Order: sequence, then C-alpha cells, then structure tokens
Amino acid sequence: MKILITGGAGFIGSHVVRRFVFNYPDYQIYNLDALTYAGNLENLRDVEGEANYNFIKGNINHADFIKELFGIHRFAGVIHLAAESHVDRSINEPLEFARTNILGTMNLLNEFKRLWSSNWEGKKFYHISTDEVYGSLGSTGFFTEESPYEPNSPYSASKAASDHFVRAYGETYGLPYVISNCSNNYGPNHFPEKLIPLFINNIINNKPLPVYGDGNYTRDWLYVEDHARAIDFVFHKGGCMETYNIGGFNEWKNIDLVMELCSQMDNKLGRAKGSSEKLITFVKDRPGHDLRYAIDATKINEELGWSPSVTFEEGLSKTIDWYLENTDWLAHVTSGEYTKYYKKQYHS
Ligand code: NAD
Ligand code: DAU
Repeated sequence: MKILITGGAGFIGSHVVRRFVFNYPDYQIYNLDALTYAGNLENLRDVEGEANYNFIKGNINHADFIKELFGIHRFAGVIHLAAESHVDRSINEPLEFARTNILGTMNLLNEFKRLWSSNWEGKKFYHISTDEVYGSLGSTGFFTEESPYEPNSPYSASKAASDHFVRAYGETYGLPYVISNCSNNYGPNHFPEKLIPLFINNIINNKPLPVYGDGNYTRDWLYVEDHARAIDFVFHKGGCMETYNIGGFNEWKNIDLVMELCSQMDNKLGRAKGSSEKLITFVKDRPGHDLRYAIDATKINEELGWSPSVTFEEGLSKTIDWYLENTDWLAHVTSGEYTKYYKKQYHS
C-alpha cells in the first residue's frame, strides 16, 4: 500500500514519517514536502536509507504536479500535514496561508477524488488540523469535537477553511476522510520560531526571552511522539467521516512554563539558579491572541484507547537535552532567513 505523507520534513511530519516507516514495513511511505524554511531533511537522516521510504520534493499548491503525482502512485492513503503553521507569520503573510492551507489541501482532495470516487473501498484521507480552529476558551471549559469553529488568526482561519473543505468533500462526494484537531506540540526538531524551541535557543545564547503581553495565556502541551502515536491510531482505527480531538491534559500558563524552562536550563547548563529567568522580557502582545486552549480528549481515549504517555516534566527535559545535543541542527536552521525573520518579529 502506498501512503502519501505531506509535510514530512517538518516538525510533526518527521516524527510521523519515522513512526510509519519503522512500524509498517509493508507500506511504501512517500514524503511530499516543498522544503520551505520549516522543512528540513536533517530531521529524517535515520530514515532516508530505509527501503520503504521515498522523498519527493514538491509543492501541494501546484495542481498539475499533484495531478501527475497521484496518477503515477495511486496513493491509497493520505496523511496531510503540509501547512504554513506559525500564527505570527500568518499575521504578516495571510495570503500565503490561504494558498497552502486551503488551496493546497483542495488540490490533494481533488486528486484523491479523481482517483477513487468510483470505489472508495479501503481508502482514507486523513487531514491533520489544530485546536485553534475553535478559537479561544475563557478561564474554564474544554474544546470538544462539537465545539463551534471560531478561528481568530489568519492561520487558524485557513486551517478551519481546510477542515470545512475536507468535510464538504465527504458529504458531497463520499470521500472517506478523518480529521484530528490537536493542541500545542513540543519536542525535538521543533522550529525555533515557536515558544519552547525559541526560548531554549535564546537561553543557550543569553538572549532576551520575549513573553507576549502579561504571559497569562494558557496552552495545552503534548509531546510530539505522543501526537505521532495518536495519528497512527486515528489512521488505522479511526472511523470514517469522524473528527478526533487530541490533547495533553497538560495546561500551562506561558509565564509558568517559561519559569519551568528557565529552571531546567539553569540546571542543565550548570548556570547559577535564577540566571535564565533574568532574560524574561515582556513585549507587545500578539494581535488577536487567544487566551486559552484546552482539549477534552475523551473521544480518542475511549474509542481508540489513546492517551499521552510522556509527562510534561519528562518531555521538556528530553526536549532540552535534544537541543543541547544537536547544536549543529540549531545552527543550520537559525542561519540565513531566520535572522531576517527574527529582526522583523522582535525588532532586535
Ligand atoms: P511545520 O511548519 O514544522 O512543518 C510544515 C511542513 O510542511 C514543512 O516541512 C514544510 O516544508 C511543508 N510545507 C509547507 N508548505 C508546503 C507546500 N506548499 N507544499 C508542500 N509542503 C509544504 O509544521 P508542524 O508544526 O509540523 O505542523 C504540521 C501540521 O500539524 C500542520 O498542518 C499544523 O497545522 C498541524 N498542527 C500543528 C501543531 C503544533 O503544535 N505544531 C498542533 C496541531 C496541529
Ligand atoms: O494549538 C495548536 C497550535 O499551536 C498549532 O496549530 C500551531 O501550528 C502552533 O504554532 C501552536 O500555535 P501557538 O500560537 O499556540 O504556538 P506558539 O509557540 O507560537 O505560541 C505559544 C504561546 O506562547 C502563545 O500564547 C504565544 C506565546 N509566545 C510565542 C512566541 C513565539 C510568546 O509569548 N512569545 C513568543 O516569542
């Protein structure tokens, strides 16, 4: 069986590719990735020699290319992760997010439909989405699969639109889809534009830690390998035309998380207690900043038997160790374009 994984050179995608290549030797895995600033084949060095792994450099926005690719390989399953994924970038470049996240997704849906609409038997289109489509929670409550969509950023609006198109292709053409909406991931290979890897990198380099607003925003953090395992469960055992919420049962206010990170980093770097904390700088808030995300993951837990296996303290410690051991990876991804982005975003 040929499975297409899009965005497999990115953060979450690389963990999904690794899991599928090693756990399912009978599948031929095709990783399609445009290698944008966020895509990095160094994330998959241990996988690239495997007989059931294939890399294709290409852009999901190019409809003719996608048509040709599906015609050649006739993928029976698609796990679609390719996306523009950073909220701050979406505020500056909303159109780029519409192109990849909405139109790119539609190109994949169209070719999957063209191939299989006469017989959907044994086929599955799995769309990876985010809890941000539900908007923001107040200080209580959880997102469930029934929560209304209320996206607040161009990123989450583009992901919400793509979810709607996937669902609409299911309703209109019978396309067998499954969608999952996950909370904030963290772990190895996370691009250092997102909170945790950005702050790890800045602590290493003794640079300010730019906390947006008052830091009292809450996110529900999940270790990336637990997300990859959830994706495996949903792909293999999830119902057709179903949605699953995936979360860490692990809420942290940003400022508390940053304090925990500073404390672990001081320990690991052998620096005096409290030294990283001094780098915290409160900066201008993100426009449209969602106050709180928290996932009710009861459905995936009860129906598919999934729950997170890594505690936050353990996951954060493993993550920091990975960055400290992979300074070459950090150096490569923070050279060039990253410096320009950093200057524009943080005026420093
Ligand atoms: P990422 O930015 O690290 O990786 C995205 C990958 O997609 C990169 O390898 C990039 O090169 C590729 N890509 C981008 N545009 C492309 C295009 N036009 N054609 C082909 N490839 C393209 O993202 P991530 O954090 O790994 O997120 C992966 C998916 O999971 C996204 O769909 C995101 O919305 C979703 N998600 C992320 C999180 C999170 O916390 N990171 C949580 C929930 C859901
Ligand atoms: O909830 C799932 C989503 O989580 C994914 O869909 C997105 O792809 C992913 O980027 C992430 O979105 P967030 O906006 O929550 O993640 P980010 O790491 O950018 O920010 C986490 C919190 O930290 C948020 O409240 C903003 C804050 N923050 C972030 C940065 C980059 C800061 O205070 N300072 C910063 O410099």
